[in-house]
Amino acid sequence: MSLATPSLKTATQPKRLTVLGSTGSIGCSTLDLVERNPEAFQIEALTANRSVSRLALQAKRFGARLAVVADETCYADLKEALSGSGVEAAAGPAAVAEAAARPCDWVMAAIVGAAGLAPTLSAIRQGRVVGLANKETLVCAGGLMTGEVTRCDAQLLPVDSEHNAIFQVLDLENRQTVDRLVLTASGGPFRSWSLEEMAAVTPEQAVAHPNWDMGAKISVDSATMMNKGLELIEAHHLFEMPEDRIDILVHPQSVIHSMVSYVDGSVLAQLGQPDMRTPIAYALAWPERMATPVDRLDLAAIARLDFEAPDPRRFPALALARAALRAGGTAATTLNAANEVAVAAFLAGQIAFVDIAAVVEETLDRHPSTPLTSLEGVEEADGRARETAGRLLEERGGRA
Ligand SMILES: NC(=O)c1ccc[n+]([C@@H]2O[C@H](COP(=O)([O-])OP(=O)(O)OC[C@H]3O[C@@H](n4cnc5c(N)ncnc54)[C@H](OP(=O)(O)O)[C@@H]3O)[C@@H](O)[C@H]2O)c1
Repeated sequence: MSLATPSLKTATQPKRLTVLGSTGSIGCSTLDLVERNPEAFQIEALTANRSVSRLALQAKRFGARLAVVADETCYADLKEALSGSGVEAAAGPAAVAEAAARPCDWVMAAIVGAAGLAPTLSAIRQGRVVGLANKETLVCAGGLMTGEVTRCDAQLLPVDSEHNAIFQVLDLENRQTVDRLVLTASGGPFRSWSLEEMAAVTPEQAVAHPNWDMGAKISVDSATMMNKGLELIEAHHLFEMPEDRIDILVHPQSVIHSMVSYVDGSVLAQLGQPDMRTPIAYALAWPERMATPVDRLDLAAIARLDFEAPDPRRFPALALARAALRAGGTAATTLNAANEVAVAAFLAGQIAFVDIAAVVEETLDRHPSTPLTSLEGVEEADGRARETAGRLLEERGGRA
């Protein structure tokens, strides 16, 4: 079991945090909580890709020791923005991974996509407690990553709201009493749209999620429901649960964040507002709890909670993810890489919304799964899938 178990000593000193992807939606929510609890937390390092001014502002405000941009061409701008502040500047993917390895108590893994794999692993290999938002890394590296967590005595605390909910209600001491996991899904902005309507969806419509305020990539994933497919694979690895015992249930209000069904017929759920500061706070304060400014749930005002089964015809990404998980090996790596390429092309206006799942499916068809035995194998499978997906985009008239 790669998850944290509540034997961790409660820190009396402020926790020293490194936030990977601090300029994104999860990163900013994490820093919002840090700012409200200045006695409890200190910042060691912050990282971004290209958002220099936001990163420099954060680094100065939180007194970080180090700020890193992954894109080397942004180094001079970062250095200038930090001059005189005493914050060290660095750039490049290797520097992001080094930042993740610096001594600290807790690392937030909130880079988007497979780019988060090397830095997240770098923190894991130092035996850190890692708050895992970056689901794509677990999807593409699966058992290899959880194997590293065990080998290095690291701890993973799920930040994704569904997995955090399960973590809150899962009886880790009595795993044999767990029957099924139920991942809830909002259904995204196109939950009730026809396929014809979905064919004309614009990037602006796809990123406007009805309940959650998130980065562009995960918003599109929510709209295709690939996000739920990635979460299914994430849940399989985090909770060691077979694919056929993880259900997906559409719940448009996003109040129930997920559930665990037990052998005696009990179903335990975690409820709350759709605000990522709740699961982030749970992971930050674990094994305790901390106060947040999140609105309290008013169930009388909400009045009703709805549920429905997902529609596999309009949301083919779900079946693709299930098939990839069943296939094992490199299949989920291929699925994730092709999806990242297709989503980027859709956001750039190069392909239609409904082409995203089609590109993923065709890439999977062209790369039958092979066993995944090393992290180098993950990189190779990821690279091959990106190349194929890029070629498929060209064939469809989009650019890689
Ligand atoms: N947002 C949510 O509510 C939510 C909920 C559950 C799980 N998650 C997961 O959390 C992760 C982050 O999501 P998000 O919504 O916060 O994404 P986001 O808003 O797009 O932020 C992504 C962060 O990663 C950085 N980044 C992007 N590409 C990078 C690269 N190649 N190398 C290093 N850093 C890079 C970005 O830097 P720049 O600002 O410079 O681009 C930014 O700091 C994703 O895996 C997502 O699936 C998010």
